[in-house]
Amino acid sequence: MAGGNLVFAVNGERFEVSSVNPSMTLLEFLRSNTDFRSVKLGCGEGGCGACIVLLSKYDPTSDRVDDFTINSCLTLLCSINGCSITTSEGLGNTQKGFHPIHERIAGFHASQCGFCTPGMCISIYSALLNANKSNESQPSPGFSKMPVSEAEKSISGNLCRCTGYRPIVDACKSFAADADIEDLGFNSFCKRGESKEKMIANLPPYNPKVHLLNFPEFLKKEIVPYNVLDQAKYSWNTPASISELQNILEGNQAASVNLVAGNTGSGYYKEQERYDIYIDLTHIPELSTIRKNDTGIEIGAAVTISKAIAALKEESKFGNIFTKIASHMEKVANNFIRNSGSIGGNLVMAQSKGFPSDITTVLLAVDASVNIMNGEKQEKLRLEDFLGLPSVLESTKVLLSVEIPFWNASTGANTDLIFETYRAAPYPLASTLPYLNAAFLAQVSRHGSSNDIMVDKCLLSFGSYGGEHSIRATQIEEFLTRKVLNHAVLYEAVRLLGNIVVPSEDTSYPEYRKSLAIGFLFEFFYPLIATDNHFDLEKPPTLLSSAQQLIESNEYFPVGEPVIKVGAAMQASGEAIFVDDIPSLPKCVHGAFICSTQPFARIKSIGFKENVIPTGVLALITVKDIPQGGQNIAYLTSDLDSGPLFADELAESTGQRIALVVADTQKHADIAASLAIVEYDMENLDTPILSVEDAVKRSSFYEVPSKYYLPPIGDVSIGMSEADFKILSAVFRLGSQYFFYIEPQAALALPDEDNCVEVYTASQAPQYTHTVIANCLGIQEHNVRVITRRVGGGFGGKTTKSTPVATACALAAHKLQRPVKMYLNRKTDMVMAGGRHPMKITYNVGFKSNGKITALELEILIDGGFDKDVSPKMPNFMWGPMRKYDWGAMSVDVKVCKTNLPSRTTMRAPGELQGSYIGEVIIENVASSLNMDVDAVRKTNLHTYESLTKFYQQTAGDRNEYTLPSIWDKLEISSGFKERVEMVKEFNGSNVWRKRGISRVPIVHQCTQRATPGKVSIFSDGSVVAEVGGIELGQGLWTKVQQMTAYGLGLIKCDGSEKLLEKIRVVQADTISLTQGGLTNGSTTSENSCAAIGLCCEILVNRLKPMMDKILEKTGSVNWDTLVTQAYAQTLSLSASAFYVPETSSKDYLNYGVAISEVEVNLLTGATEILRSDIIYDCGKSLNPAVDLGQIEGAFVQGIGFFMLEEYTTDENGLVVQDGTWNYKIPTVDTVPKQFNVEVLNSGYHKNRVLSSKASGEPPLHLASSVHCAARSAIREARKQIFAWNKDGSDPGFELPVPATMPVVKELCGLQIVEKFLELKIAGK
Ligand SMILES: Cc1cc2nc3c(=O)[nH]c(=O)nc-3n(C[C@H](O)[C@H](O)[C@H](O)COP(=O)(O)OP(=O)(O)OC[C@H]3O[C@@H](n4cnc5c(N)ncnc54)[C@H](O)[C@@H]3O)c2cc1C
Ligand code: FES
Ligand code: FES
Repeated sequence: MAGGNLVFAVNGERFEVSSVNPSMTLLEFLRSNTDFRSVKLGCGEGGCGACIVLLSKYDPTSDRVDDFTINSCLTLLCSINGCSITTSEGLGNTQKGFHPIHERIAGFHASQCGFCTPGMCISIYSALLNANKSNESQPSPGFSKMPVSEAEKSISGNLCRCTGYRPIVDACKSFAADADIEDLGFNSFCKRGESKEKMIANLPPYNPKVHLLNFPEFLKKEIVPYNVLDQAKYSWNTPASISELQNILEGNQAASVNLVAGNTGSGYYKEQERYDIYIDLTHIPELSTIRKNDTGIEIGAAVTISKAIAALKEESKFGNIFTKIASHMEKVANNFIRNSGSIGGNLVMAQSKGFPSDITTVLLAVDASVNIMNGEKQEKLRLEDFLGLPSVLESTKVLLSVEIPFWNASTGANTDLIFETYRAAPYPLASTLPYLNAAFLAQVSRHGSSNDIMVDKCLLSFGSYGGEHSIRATQIEEFLTRKVLNHAVLYEAVRLLGNIVVPSEDTSYPEYRKSLAIGFLFEFFYPLIATDNHFDLEKPPTLLSSAQQLIESNEYFPVGEPVIKVGAAMQASGEAIFVDDIPSLPKCVHGAFICSTQPFARIKSIGFKENVIPTGVLALITVKDIPQGGQNIAYLTSDLDSGPLFADELAESTGQRIALVVADTQKHADIAASLAIVEYDMENLDTPILSVEDAVKRSSFYEVPSKYYLPPIGDVSIGMSEADFKILSAVFRLGSQYFFYIEPQAALALPDEDNCVEVYTASQAPQYTHTVIANCLGIQEHNVRVITRRVGGGFGGKTTKSTPVATACALAAHKLQRPVKMYLNRKTDMVMAGGRHPMKITYNVGFKSNGKITALELEILIDGGFDKDVSPKMPNFMWGPMRKYDWGAMSVDVKVCKTNLPSRTTMRAPGELQGSYIGEVIIENVASSLNMDVDAVRKTNLHTYESLTKFYQQTAGDRNEYTLPSIWDKLEISSGFKERVEMVKEFNGSNVWRKRGISRVPIVHQCTQRATPGKVSIFSDGSVVAEVGGIELGQGLWTKVQQMTAYGLGLIKCDGSEKLLEKIRVVQADTISLTQGGLTNGSTTSENSCAAIGLCCEILVNRLKPMMDKILEKTGSVNWDTLVTQAYAQTLSLSASAFYVPETSSKDYLNYGVAISEVEVNLLTGATEILRSDIIYDCGKSLNPAVDLGQIEGAFVQGIGFFMLEEYTTDENGLVVQDGTWNYKIPTVDTVPKQFNVEVLNSGYHKNRVLSSKASGEPPLHLASSVHCAARSAIREARKQIFAWNKDGSDPGFELPVPATMPVVKELCGLQIVEKFLELKIAGK
């Protein structure tokens, strides 16, 4: 390659980089040195997929191109020398025309906030491209060779927090050769009732010849077989042989050396250090090839996991061992990590850094060995011995290859070789580390003439359980060898395991992990015990299926139409601009927060490690930098509560902001923040308050304004006296949840003339941010301008919690008089975010023997954290859904505790989610104590219209608006509930190791309309701009506003007024252009914004009407454009603004919905699979049914996260434990319901709501409690079985914690269930 320079292509454009820091990632380069913005930084650790690109490598010898996805956040720029990179805007864009992937994503309504979408598109594109290379027969025109089964897999490593994945999978499936077009989910291309041919013809056409891009010819010509970068310029070595590698290592013994294969390991270890030299191992043939001979397969250390999988799959003729190793490896990480991560890198990470590897476990069980190079010496070691060596990374050893021997299955007629691998992880398909993995190989034979099976020999390995590395359980292997398998032998083997799989002290869930090991060993050997050859865990994987029903209404056309989301294709191509995409201005600097690591301490000093100012640092901003006249203020709530931007002398929580370090780049700012040394002093300070109980002891509460006190309903003491039974002082807790918007907090502040500042922020509350910035800087509000175009997901987390980010940027910009940008890294974001309010609930409930509840008394302690935020309002938030059942009489005492924990805030359905769930827990426990069917107890306590008005008073609305009872019945029929309840019973009766549960849950959610401004301006060409207070967060607000503007102006009824939609643009929120924008939360902002727009349109129509009537009188007809031209000529004002203020008497209304979910719990692992969920949700007259459907599905899936997966906890110092994608698990495509049916009910006209619509953003989230309740029901069945085995009485009842993660479920199902079962069998029962 010319001059040994780094040359590559991005989207067909040639880049030559003559000097670069070798630690620079491809993502950093793309985002800071090119105009391509589709590549987003979501996590920086390989776990989210927002940054992925397609990498194409050309091999001049074979004239072949290898195409695969990689994550640009971990790939080092130097390693892509000679490669071609394709990003989503490279597939198509606004200028060139969109790619069919972009168009289908848009038409399937599969992009909401759009931050994940470019990455999704690249995953889909890669699947299409590689399918096209397969030998499968040509599909019919318009389709690809990709099968439907691959469609789901293709996005299995990409996270989306908004959509719930279903529409993305459908968009992807629409390309599949075997897709049934009628089975695809709701979309804007296919209309119900059309022929299949018509539907196919309507899809944006896909032609592989046109839509699959070729490797750039110019780059092919520049590639020579041996691409070497100039080592002197790049510190990047590319040895082409082992001896070259030896020479480099020998010549650099004093230097710090980084051996690089895929560099994905840095996603786990997050090294920030820059090495003296980098050695790229991927060009050494011995390390990059796969060799096969009669004894086995040798895989070079630098071979990627994906290539190793492909090679192993090819060897199926040697029995299924290699195929099983391959399918286990397919669950390692995700597609894009496997495509660049090497086998050797994995093994070395496991060997030297204790990484919980899957690959070492699997290879240990087949007795693999490794070849290593030590100076000039090469040696072969058994993998087990290699793992036991001192750290390879601290020596000069290099791993060359791994050898996997063939295992000959045909050792005799009576002999069998069996091999299985196991993995228990929160995501079944991929993208998460397991709690434990295992692999077992056994040679077994029939014993004499009997059916008994003898173990001739076995290899048993376990890993990832919290030990140093994967291990072989040799003691058990020896014990089992030459033993005839029976219950007693197996019992002894599992008993021995307890002393072998011993997690280290700091490992979470140690007992759970042990029980997993036992479960897997049992699962492997038990089917071999001849007398009882029945095992029920095997089941074929199922694909996602779905159905949607929505009613489109054209009464207010185009309102009510499923119009495609504004800008969806542009979001897919990655051209939609988010804050961090705004091109950097000259002199722009970057900020990072330094946060407290102590929960309660005086701050003595802030400095840096070894007293050295880190590279690039320009300033350290603290509370002292707030100008005179300014305030130390971080946010403002609608109740005008506020808190400090920086801790002053006292840090009151870990994660509290102490200072802002400003540096020349974001990377330098982040590194500097991590090198900060804060000296604390705890002398004479009280101990921190780290629980609600502590807060009660110390009377540490936030004052709740009297307007939020919850009035009692009825007389609880009378209700209690009427009860036949009571449950008293029952307690349960709810934890927190992190927003996990894929776009972290971001802001950019620009100082302007005359003491002004302009701030771009990803905020749900620009108006409040505006005021806070003015207060902080001590300037008048008219000196501040805050702009928010779009937000990459908010979910409440970008309301009060985004303001400090914007304010800190503004403060730094004001002080330094330079633009200041800040993009929080995921860890800092998670440490500071606070999330949903945790709480402790204590209740007394009285009820009749038929399940009718007569009285409920609740005492709730809410953890508000160290800073007030919206916490005093929490009782009010909870109050709506808490009344969803007829409790007879009810009283609630809520205390909001001030603790030294992170400050909590509103997260989607704040308090409402908890309030709704509290109702379900009570119902569940009442049913359980009466031994009654819980569904019957729910029905008994559903409100009648009369009780609804007692509990909700005027908010209850008219009788015909109370749709819940009819939805309840309707869903029973449409989902086949009754029949499925029977089927579940049957299933549970005939399965020992899997239990199912099914549950129906109703919701009642109170929504409140709020005052919101709007503005509509008509331009001289007839095009229109609409501005609203609400922010586009992905919830489709702009689309609904666009429809509303078209409807409102269309009322003029001139020619062509029905086609106004495409003339309307909704623009970013700008606090100077439109004041009093308020907050975007509480689900009603779309309708409020629409109402404001409706008022603006009414003004404009009233202005235009007299003129139009005159024209009509003269000419008989007039079209929109002419009308506008005339209005301009007659100097009519064509801009109108309005402030919608809902009537106090009718601003609250109730939302209803019902969900039925069915789950299956695996008793050996605690895994819960959601087999099916059915929902009916009342959307009033939906403003846009496609948008509302997306909100319902997305909210439901986010709720699944809360109830089943997402742990967001603090440690004993109050520090957030989960700080990234490695340990925070939002739902993925493999954890959503396998079958997901949603009906958007159109419940008709109502005068007090905006065009009779209802909100959809938050209420459906509560419906996900149906999954939790179904899991509870399955666990109840499991426990019934154990209690029956034990014969020691009946289940005293249990509380299923939230989230019901695998360890939690398993513990309730019995950590010793296998031992119990075997004891029973040994006893002959
Ligand atoms: C998001 C994510 C999820 C993951 N999930 C899983 C999982 O579920 N299961 C699992 O088993 N693994 C998982 N991994 C680990 C993954 O398999 C490894 O990161 C990958 O295999 C490392 O290969 P690499 O080529 O990128 O190594 P690199 O990052 O290039 O190297 C890793 C380390 O090994 C050293 N090194 C590399 N090659 C050699 C060699 N030949 N000789 C000596 N030293 C060497 C490097 O100097 C470095 O210190 C995951 C990783 C990520 C990022
Ligand atoms: S940003 Fe690279 S995978 Fe998340
Ligand atoms: S649309 Fe996927 S994260 Fe928002």
